[in-house]
Amino acid sequence: MKTLSTAVIGLGRIGWQFHIPHILAHDGFHLTSVVDPLEERREEARREFGVRGYADYAELLESEALDLITLASPTHLHTEQAVQAMSRGIDVFCDKPMARSLAEVDAMIAAMRTHGRKLMVFQPHRVTSEAAVIRHILAQDWLGEIFMVRRTLCNYTRRNDWQAFKEYGGGMLNNFGAHCLDQVLHLFGFGVRRFDCHLRKIASLGDADDVVKALAELENGAIVDIEINMACAVNIPNWTICGRRGTAIHQADKFIVRYYRDDELADLGLQDGLAAANRKYGNEEVIPWHTVELSLADYPGADFYDHCYAYYAEDKPPFVPVEETREVMRLLGAFRECAGW
Ligand SMILES: NC(=O)c1ccc[n+]([C@@H]2O[C@H](COP(=O)([O-])OP(=O)(O)OC[C@H]3O[C@@H](n4cnc5c(N)ncnc54)[C@H](O)[C@@H]3O)[C@@H](O)[C@H]2O)c1
Repeated sequence: MKTLSTAVIGLGRIGWQFHIPHILAHDGFHLTSVVDPLEERREEARREFGVRGYADYAELLESEALDLITLASPTHLHTEQAVQAMSRGIDVFCDKPMARSLAEVDAMIAAMRTHGRKLMVFQPHRVTSEAAVIRHILAQDWLGEIFMVRRTLCNYTRRNDWQAFKEYGGGMLNNFGAHCLDQVLHLFGFGVRRFDCHLRKIASLGDADDVVKALAELENGAIVDIEINMACAVNIPNWTICGRRGTAIHQADKFIVRYYRDDELADLGLQDGLAAANRKYGNEEVIPWHTVELSLADYPGADFYDHCYAYYAEDKPPFVPVEETREVMRLLGAFRECAGW
């Protein structure tokens, strides 16, 4: 089995808690080195994993023969670090959001093409249990044509880290928006024909948005309603998916699907005239609903590093094509502009 010599850049929340354990657990990757300006974090990595630690990214590139760099550094550093790696013949796996702007994204894609390297962005919400359940629901075609998708992420957070600041690529449109938009488009179809977006800064202590309301109409006609609300004190279901024949809703650890079958509906003629029959408001139709409950525990998420291995080591097509990430980043920029931010 080919082994990819890999370095992780940034030993923070996602670098330390996700990328390093997954790289270590995967036979196809060998973690050789890490970069972080904080000495105590480099020392922790040396002690725990026996890897080389660098304070200076350029020194890593000078000193190591690497196949892959995983970028888990703050967002505003992604472009420069990715371009430097690819210009030295190293492939890049970059955390989301890919960068701060479409111009930065395009610089990364240009470097990828110029240097003939591979570049993919970590979009883990494509492989979550929620995504797996939704794929199952869609594959069963219980709901019929999907006309509306509500994707919501809510909590109340007085954000005070670098993600609260515009200059570092923070803000929740960039941060969770990169997840939600990629996930919704991946599941329900890339191609947005029009949109509207509103941003607010409510509970955050920084200057970037922490409340996002975006409406998008997909090419297939579905209306997507994304709400990322970090100033919401109550829980709101993460998903409501409406089809012509029913609705799926996410509640706690399961999805509940309620739907009917076309062939089980009685004939319901249209009323003639302008006087509702019998002065009744409803038509007393009883819809023969079916209800299915799907537990998230029965739909385990996939290992994203298996997808990485397939792309970076086995030359399979990327699980997250960079063109799709570019479209997500283009839309995030357009949403921001539409919101006047
Ligand atoms: N895919 C996901 O689910 C997910 C989750 C969290 C974060 N992220 C993304 O990962 C990136 C990092 O976020 P985080 O929450 O882990 O941040 P963090 O603040 O927890 O950690 C950032 C780390 O980068 C280090 N760092 C700072 N400057 C650096 C430099 N010049 N070179 C190398 N390292 C440097 C810091 O010392 C720190 O250890 C961001 O782009 C963020 O949006 C993605």
